[in-house]
Amino acid sequence: MDRAKILVTGGAGYIGSHAVVELYEAGFQPVLVDNFANSQERALDGVERILGVKVPFHRIDCNDVEAMRAVFAEEGSLRGVIHFAAYKAVGESMQKPLEYYQNNVGSLLTLLQVMREFGVEALVFSSSCTVYGIPDALPVTEQTPTKKANSPYGATKQMCEDILRDVVGLGSDFRTILLRYFNPIGAHESALIGELPLGVPQNLVPFVTQTAAGIREQLTIFGDTYDTPDGTNIRDYVHVVDLAKAHVVAVQRLLDKIGDKVETFNVGTGRGNSVLEVVQAFERATGQKLNYKIGPARAGDVPAIYADVTKSVETLGFKTSTSLEESLASSWKWQLALKK
Ligand code: NAD
Ligand code: WQD
Repeated sequence: MDRAKILVTGGAGYIGSHAVVELYEAGFQPVLVDNFANSQERALDGVERILGVKVPFHRIDCNDVEAMRAVFAEEGSLRGVIHFAAYKAVGESMQKPLEYYQNNVGSLLTLLQVMREFGVEALVFSSSCTVYGIPDALPVTEQTPTKKANSPYGATKQMCEDILRDVVGLGSDFRTILLRYFNPIGAHESALIGELPLGVPQNLVPFVTQTAAGIREQLTIFGDTYDTPDGTNIRDYVHVVDLAKAHVVAVQRLLDKIGDKVETFNVGTGRGNSVLEVVQAFERATGQKLNYKIGPARAGDVPAIYADVTKSVETLGFKTSTSLEESLASSWKWQLALKK
């Protein structure tokens, strides 16, 4: 089979590794770039065990323009790029704003420069629901106005979106799809790849699974006095494999040159669940009793956000097929596999 080569930056990361599997299974040839800033070789082993083939991998920093040129030259005939590589911890971005702007904005600029040099004209970009800030109305559509970012991380995603719109505005054949992810959770059904948080997890689901596994003593729910039905925050938790599949559709759409030259899509389930609902769903799905307490609110948390996915469903044919319980069960299976 003649597989179209797609460069996947951050391909060893949580979402990237799942996208690599889905790309290959859909008939593409993913070519991976990662510097292991927030991932490990284990993810590549997992991908290769799932697929039963070796995947081309380049251990380089996407900010290194010479190294990126060398990858484009060596691989030849790249048809498109999915740019996952970025730093993603909101709290850390407050402490290290320069590193975040450099890595997230800088790597996109370098990538765009090299894509132009090599005539590669299709890019899927990892954006985030963080661009909506605290929305005035729910659910959020792609037309919902973005708000001033409340972290350097969020600002980098807004800046990258603006940069891409400007590049498209130049009127070349360059096309891009901006995927605004909501909260990805879960792991591949094989439990060979999944989220590998380094240190104490900042995100809810890895903290939940580590608590159930006895690695953390207790989950603290960050506040229960929000203006939501049970007082805890509401999010849209999307299974990572569903999310990964959206990238396959997006890449194909770019290669087929369908639609506007810049398009934005929400990638969520369209369902909002509270933190307490996540805890209860986890207990139901796994039979584990979770040790948790209610603590103070976390600074900067959005009280409630979930996606209107009408545009993704109608335009991309995107459909999430995984329930919250199934997603959490897959996170738990991955947590158990990590011990082995
Ligand atoms: P991740 O940290 O697991 O993956 C990112 C990967 O990029 C890592 O493997 C890291 O080593 C690599 N990387 C970072 N900087 C690099 C560089 N300069 N050169 C080469 N490799 C580099 O994160 P993820 O959860 O898979 O997120 C992927 C993308 O999706 C990111 O852009 C993130 O901002 C975005 N996103 C994530 C979430 C989420 O909750 N996980 C939500 C919305 C958007
Ligand atoms: C989810 C809910 C917490 C941990 C972040 C980024 C966002 C996007 C997705 C990248 C919140 C609560 C959490 C804990 C808790 N990432 N919680 N106890 O904050 O929705 O979004 O990841 O683009 O930009 O901000 O995700 O998993 O941290 O939190 O009660 O120990 O769980 O308050 O309501 P969040 P999260």
